[in-house]
Amino acid sequence: MMLRSHIVGCGSYLPSRIVTNRELAATVDTSDDWIVERTGIRQRHIAAEGENTSDLAAAAALNALEMAEIKPADVDLLIVATATPDNTFPATAARVQQRIGMTGGFAFDIQAVCSGFIYALSVADNFIKSGQARTAVVIGAETFSRILDWTDRGTCVLFGDGAGAVVLRGAMEKGGNTDRGVLSTHLHSDGRHYDLLKVDGGPSSSQTVGHLRMEGREVFRHAVVNLAEVVREALSANDLTAADIDWVVPHQANRRILEGTAKKLGFPMERMVVTVERHANTSAASIPLALAEAVSDGRIKRGDLLLLEAMGGGFTWGSALARF
Ligand code: ACO
Repeated sequence: MMLRSHIVGCGSYLPSRIVTNRELAATVDTSDDWIVERTGIRQRHIAAEGENTSDLAAAAALNALEMAEIKPADVDLLIVATATPDNTFPATAARVQQRIGMTGGFAFDIQAVCSGFIYALSVADNFIKSGQARTAVVIGAETFSRILDWTDRGTCVLFGDGAGAVVLRGAMEKGGNTDRGVLSTHLHSDGRHYDLLKVDGGPSSSQTVGHLRMEGREVFRHAVVNLAEVVREALSANDLTAADIDWVVPHQANRRILEGTAKKLGFPMERMVVTVERHANTSAASIPLALAEAVSDGRIKRGDLLLLEAMGGGFTWGSALARF
């Protein structure tokens, strides 16, 4: 017998304002055709003025707690994965804790950019398995619209704002790959690639917020290789093959990256949850947003085996395998 982290709730929140490619083309030198062909993105949600990462995160968390039928006061761990915190400090998680009415336990942020949700899920799973927490809310929330250089067509067309959350609860299982809950997580980073995808500001280096900068081609090249490797690692650690996976819930950066990874691994695209066309890249929020969508529309069912994977700035990358 062993403790596993069951996924007992999923939730999401998207700002109401939708910006289409055509609207972007009115202010930067781009076109709907270029963006759709190179990325699959058709539109993105953008937070309203005064609507911050903590607002998105709190809405997604409450949505997930509602599905789990768990009261905020019963949560003892809250983690927000974000690269766009409300303030430099305190942690956005502390604001979310206050907003949702979580009165005990502990809350903190994790920074691993687009891999942030996988990192946060892994940390929460380890707290639960060690017995230091029983009920955890894990959130990915971003307002990337605030750190984009809206004059740089190579980056500003790629990102959007949003938040997703899951509720984890410790439960005893017999051990093995037929258990429910998180079965494994694998994390990686390689700081040699720090400058390929970064924000050129920050409190210590420049006392400014800065803007996102990216060597798109280099990131693309590494993404397809690293994601395929981390998926193979997760399958082999659990004695599984690609055919055992019901749904891949990938980080949504670019449809071509998803197709490249699927092809490398022999996964049919029909078993990948794809939201990038409507959400664009929402960094740490993209996996829990996609998960919440596929659970709420009935594609993902109880007992399904899910493989979550992501890659982001740092570079960071990782996977989580879970039976829903
Ligand atoms: N509209 C029109 N033309 C554009 C645009 C745009 N929005 N952006 C770039 N171009 C132009 C370039 O200026 C260039 O023109 P040139 O040939 O005259 O110099 C041409 O298009 C080709 O540019 P590339 O950057 O070589 O285009 P590429 O095919 O590599 O596509 C893209 C760019 C979409 C950014 C791609 O490299 C990519 O998806 N990379 C992965 C990056 C990513 O997804 N990062 C997300 C964060 S990391 C993660 O989440 C995994």
